[in-house]
Amino acid sequence: MLIVKSIEDIDSNAFKDFSCGNADLDTYLKTFARQNHKKGIGNSYVALDGNRAIGYFTISMSSIEFFEIPQEHHRGIPKYPSPVAKIGRLAVDKEYQGKKIGTALLIEALKKIREASKIVAAYAVVVDAKNEAVKKFYLSFWFTEYKNELSLFLPMKTIDRLLS
Ligand SMILES: CC(C)(COP(=O)(O)OP(=O)(O)OC[C@H]1O[C@@H](n2cnc3c(N)ncnc32)[C@H](O)[C@@H]1OP(=O)(O)O)[C@@H](O)C(=O)NCCC(=O)NCCS
Repeated sequence: MLIVKSIEDIDSNAFKDFSCGNADLDTYLKTFARQNHKKGIGNSYVALDGNRAIGYFTISMSSIEFFEIPQEHHRGIPKYPSPVAKIGRLAVDKEYQGKKIGTALLIEALKKIREASKIVAAYAVVVDAKNEAVKKFYLSFWFTEYKNELSLFLPMKTIDRLLS
């Protein structure tokens, strides 16, 4: 079973060698993730293999304009901005990619968001894919396009169905 801990409970040595193939995502984990977690900008959770960080995700609250919501979901939705949760970052170390760790991290992120949404409303989960290849990863989990080609959207009612 994958061990996932809050970044606050992990020593920084755990991610000094983290490398996912995207320099921005590596730098975020090593330089900004802990302070942003403390400040309430984005909460990061890290997957561990022993003392080594092998993946992470960052989640936060966000909002979505009515006109950005795909038309097939418009029924019953107010015309002002709706609350959503955002997966700001999700990455797996290169040595561990292709072993379903990204899948496990995505499921963990959705579970945490679903729990949080029982207290603070979130109508959907959104994510900005870094490129077309990563977009395919999210599309395989029922995310759909909204706003632009790399922005993806998954309604909470679909997450409820997936996780229950
Ligand atoms: C994208 C990423 C998180 C996926 O994690 P992973 O552990 O390698 O993915 P998994 O092993 O769980 O793969 C799940 C499925 O997605 C597919 N997939 C994974 N990465 C993919 C990629 N980069 N391009 C296309 N498909 C991909 C796999 O083929 C697999 O499909 P299958 O179930 O049919 O075999 C990881 O490759 C990564 O960190 N990439 C670099 C960083 C990045 O760009 N992150 C995205 C930020 S938005």
